[in-house]
Amino acid sequence: MLRAMQLSDAERTWDLSAILAACEWTDQAVAVGAGHGLQNHGLVSVQEETIRQIRLDVEGEQALENGLLEHRIWTWMNAQETATMQGLQQAFERHEAGPGVGLLKQLGVGIEGGVLKAGDPDEIAAVIDHRAAFLGSLPADANDVDSAMLDHFSSRKNLIQSVERTERHWMLTPEGSAVSADDLQETLVITDLTPELLQGDDWKTAEFRAFDVSVEATTPRTGRSHPMQALIERIRSIFLEMGFSELVDDYVQSAGWNMDALFIPQDHPAREMQDTFYLDQPTSIDLDEDVMQAWKAIHEHGGETGSTGWGGSYSTEVSQRPLLRTHTTVNTIQYLADHPTEACRVFSVDRVFRKEAIDRTHLPEFHQIEGIIMEEGANLQMLVTTLKTFYAKMGYPEVRVRPAYFPYTEPSLEIEVKWRGKWLELGGAGIFRPEVTEPLGITSPVLAWGMGLERLAMLVLGLDDIRQLYISDLEWLRNQPIL
Ligand code: PHE
Repeated sequence: MLRAMQLSDAERTWDLSAILAACEWTDQAVAVGAGHGLQNHGLVSVQEETIRQIRLDVEGEQALENGLLEHRIWTWMNAQETATMQGLQQAFERHEAGPGVGLLKQLGVGIEGGVLKAGDPDEIAAVIDHRAAFLGSLPADANDVDSAMLDHFSSRKNLIQSVERTERHWMLTPEGSAVSADDLQETLVITDLTPELLQGDDWKTAEFRAFDVSVEATTPRTGRSHPMQALIERIRSIFLEMGFSELVDDYVQSAGWNMDALFIPQDHPAREMQDTFYLDQPTSIDLDEDVMQAWKAIHEHGGETGSTGWGGSYSTEVSQRPLLRTHTTVNTIQYLADHPTEACRVFSVDRVFRKEAIDRTHLPEFHQIEGIIMEEGANLQMLVTTLKTFYAKMGYPEVRVRPAYFPYTEPSLEIEVKWRGKWLELGGAGIFRPEVTEPLGITSPVLAWGMGLERLAMLVLGLDDIRQLYISDLEWLRNQPIL
């Protein structure tokens, strides 16, 4: 490239196509890479300019070929003796007739008694022609196009698109001009290490090209995991690495395991219909009578635990109501009931359901990162350390805990992570109360936590709207980092 540039006037600026032609290259990446190398050695200077170009989008290309919708309807109108709405609906499909009438109204077409009437036909035709001419003039530099037209078409779907492109110009520096042609030698530099190369001895003396991660390259557009899936995999591998095993269980659960087992009183507001999705089918989920009697004793008067319970009267019918689990603690508690005396470390990353109105920070379906540690001597310090270790491995070294309240843990805490200088609440944790552990025959302390996955995803991906995670926005998905 330097040799080719030296053959011309030293003041000349070179664009990409000039470089490609002069070097007899076809690959842009080669030219950009060579330019970069020369720039690093101070032999050329590079000017980069970002250009915004306005181009036709899919609908725009069709409009250019078949005419804009308003043009086609206008042509149809002029060919009718009386252009009626009914006729329009017959001549055009529903998805065109509706928006088409809207467009014509803006142009001054009125509807009187089901008949379409044009205001000033010449003016209407002129506006339509002007729009078609605009589309015909694309692609064009965003700075050169008619801004009123740009505004107009930007508000219509898929007619035009705005694309940013970087244009580079290279120029020899005095040092670059001064390099003597005799000093320029062509050498073979190896960029790919292949099995064939390794079979011989040549690689021993070969020169290898350093891998420069700062060189601009096109992003390969291949299939990839959804960022949520990738995040779940990462969380999984962190817990597996920390010696946990994974628990997977069903969404459909009984109120008994979801709430009663966790000493959530039967009149707790979170149990109301407006907060929890109860199911009509099955009408009821059978639970073990002994277990329900144990919960009944705990809830009414504290059973054998020394607790006073919640008082009132406990209903086993309420326990057997089916629902969509509102937290994954419903699964860890059942795991403990099945293995009350074996020390364990168990986690799950799974979906839960709450009747929430959808907004920037709420979804009715989301995921929790749940975990328990049961072992002799387990204590609060160990719980805090485990959570800090988890978040540190996720890349958030600053974690703090604050006192909180859950009916099933004591002490209870809230976990907060520092992000962009602010403390954000990511979940709850604590040590299960005797009212929870004793009826199930659990003898060692149980550390437990439940954290929001989507909350964490918003941090990791820098989002301020949780809904972005689940709308199929391909462009956004393609541009997400590899987690
Ligand atoms: N289940 C709680 C929630 O849904 C979180 C939690 C789990 C708190 C375990 C304490 C212990 O918010």
